[in-house]
Amino acid sequence: MNTNNEKQLLSDTEVVQRIFDHIDNATTDKGNQSWKEPVDNYRSKARLEAELKILQSRTIVFCPSSALAKPGDYVARDVAGIPLIAVRGLDGEVRAFRNACRHRGVQLANGHGCARALVCPYHGWAYGLDGSLKSIPHENGFPDLDKATRGLVAVACLQSNGLVFINQNSEENIEHDVSSLPKLIPDGYRLLNLNSQIVKANWKLHLESSLEGYHIRQTHKNTFFPVQYDNLTVVEAFGENSRVAFPYQSIEGLRHKNQTDISVDGRLTYVYHLFPNVVISTFPGCMQVVVLEPIDESTTRQHSYLVSDIDENQTALLDSVFEGQKFAAKGAIEDLQIVQSAQRGLLSGANEFLEFGLFETAIVRLHVHLAREMARLDKTCGK
Ligand code: FES
Ligand SMILES: [Fe+2]
Repeated sequence: MNTNNEKQLLSDTEVVQRIFDHIDNATTDKGNQSWKEPVDNYRSKARLEAELKILQSRTIVFCPSSALAKPGDYVARDVAGIPLIAVRGLDGEVRAFRNACRHRGVQLANGHGCARALVCPYHGWAYGLDGSLKSIPHENGFPDLDKATRGLVAVACLQSNGLVFINQNSEENIEHDVSSLPKLIPDGYRLLNLNSQIVKANWKLHLESSLEGYHIRQTHKNTFFPVQYDNLTVVEAFGENSRVAFPYQSIEGLRHKNQTDISVDGRLTYVYHLFPNVVISTFPGCMQVVVLEPIDESTTRQHSYLVSDIDENQTALLDSVFEGQKFAAKGAIEDLQIVQSAQRGLLSGANEFLEFGLFETAIVRLHVHLAREMARLDKTCGK
């Protein structure tokens, strides 16, 4: 998610002004190139393997920091096919490890929870929250074992701007990669909800549905379309990443406001695509962090984290957040049905490529950058 040498994102005021220009002129942001992506790139095992290698070699978002709010909180899941666990230590630091016991390799935990130590379910080797091997039952059976050398295997991990980043490639500099990202999750946000679900589609097909507003009228006829606009988005690039602004019709309430002092909460949704596989969206009173974990070429596990700065005592405000999320979930189901249909459509043999036009520019950027990463991988492998 490199952002070096790129311009900063527009201010809210500038985005709103650009949206008003589009409303008044019946226009939308357009990119300067279209793109044809071969259908084999959505259904080939070899391509998926290569994409997993790319994910394994990069700095990527693991989860929001608020999913690991207190010492002992952990999240364990696969990242590009590799089981990892991130845990907050007693010293407040978040660390990540390969999720495998140093005895005979069993995973120490699954999903999320809070623990005082990571204890292997097989024979009970126990690791501290800092990954050090603390105890071995019947230790006299391992006379030559040096516990100091058998802690969990660390993975580079950094907490920054409300997110936990990891990098499985020890040669990469995670701090450098994260340093120029804008602050996406403000301080004080806490976790409201997390869940994961299987989507029967390639991870890119699923991702693409979040990155354009060209389908609002047709796909979301009775959900988003009545309160938003069809094909009206502001699309910005920051490094390999993109931000797409989807205005709600309530944005008209900002027409005569002092433009230097506006809040876009409840007036638009920003969708941040953090290349390659993470989407962060703003909703009224909350944000959603979605990590797409490819399972195979036609299956994706979607990990969703809902975070908010609303205090738990503010029940009326929280109720309205959950009402809003129920509404958003209806639209998300519509997207899922379309995306899964698109995956089946790949099998029809009708298309050699999927076509992305000038309105779908954030998707074009995804494929441009993936193609560049694929070329880099080929070079590294000496092909
Ligand atoms: S495999 Fe973990 S204690 Fe044996
Ligand atoms: Fe959609």
